[in-house]
Amino acid sequence: MTAKGIEWLDGKLRILDQSRLPWEQIFIDLDNYHDVVLAIKEMRVRGAPAIGVAAAYGIALGASSIKTTNRNEFLAQLNQVMQTFAASRPTAVNLFEAIDRMKKAARGDDGAEIKRALVNEAKQIHRGETAATVKLSRLGAELVKDGFTVLTHCNAGALATAGYGTALGVIKAAKEQGKEVSVFATETRPLLQGARLTTWELMQEGIPVTLITDSMAGYFMHQKRIDCVLVGADRIAADGDVANKIGTYTLAVLAKESKVPFYVAAPTSTIDLSLSSGAGIPIEERDPEEVSHIQGVPIAPEGIRAANPAFDVTPHHYVSAIVTEKGIVREPYAEGLTKIVS
Ligand code: MRU
Repeated sequence: MTAKGIEWLDGKLRILDQSRLPWEQIFIDLDNYHDVVLAIKEMRVRGAPAIGVAAAYGIALGASSIKTTNRNEFLAQLNQVMQTFAASRPTAVNLFEAIDRMKKAARGDDGAEIKRALVNEAKQIHRGETAATVKLSRLGAELVKDGFTVLTHCNAGALATAGYGTALGVIKAAKEQGKEVSVFATETRPLLQGARLTTWELMQEGIPVTLITDSMAGYFMHQKRIDCVLVGADRIAADGDVANKIGTYTLAVLAKESKVPFYVAAPTSTIDLSLSSGAGIPIEERDPEEVSHIQGVPIAPEGIRAANPAFDVTPHHYVSAIVTEKGIVREPYAEGLTKIVS
């Protein structure tokens, strides 16, 4: 079992610092919302569902520090806290869905009552995400046949979900069903979530994993060494377009060319029906230094210009199926996704 990535302990948020893995297992106790916002920005806690859960607890922490006894003033200050979270990372819709739920849960006659309601709602969001990832993993396991080699990108495991995992959850569930499954994990430049986190999680689960660089994926697909590609998602638009870690689109195109099924696993909290297509998904641009350096070590001439979009959008016609806790959806996605979300 992978160590708990997120835990609410004695009124504090304990996170496993994902930026230090796999070299060090450091738990950080966060007792104010500014530190939670920073942990999300610095990707100490990362992965769409985990960002949503951390933000929910962070909002509860923010509420706990509000002193005023005036109800309207309290709600105005709480709104400020929520705005700060909304500005932390733009692509994962789970963050905005969590903020929305916390906003609705902020009910009560006075501050003390609202504070209690917010802690309860954050716990509820956490429990809900955990349950959703367990369920979708069991459902999705039917796509992973005995003897399959699955290629995955980035990290969509327990760490990323504050639960069981999405793409890695499906793989774990297939193993629990007695199937022999092995994994190819792309390193996932620039921040190496595949090399650092996916391999770490799978090795702990006793699932055979081979690390490859991102640029090797086409080679192995062409060699027919990959039976399916399975990834998570940060936001899925109403038409089934999928935003996920940069490089996912490349894998989807390669998979189609190589006749390898391309599956996406995500809880329904990742589906954004307000966007008709992936064109409307905001793509986070991160510090170019993450590209020109690896773990702080320069890998290019000083002063080099670098680009760093953190996500890309895979058009739905490359996606063979989307696995959610409410069922496996295939084309036409617009119909299937609307049905399961509403
Ligand atoms: O920038 P990150 O590491 O937060 O990006 C994470 C991903 O792209 C994951 O694939 C996605 O959030 C799904 S996690 C279950």
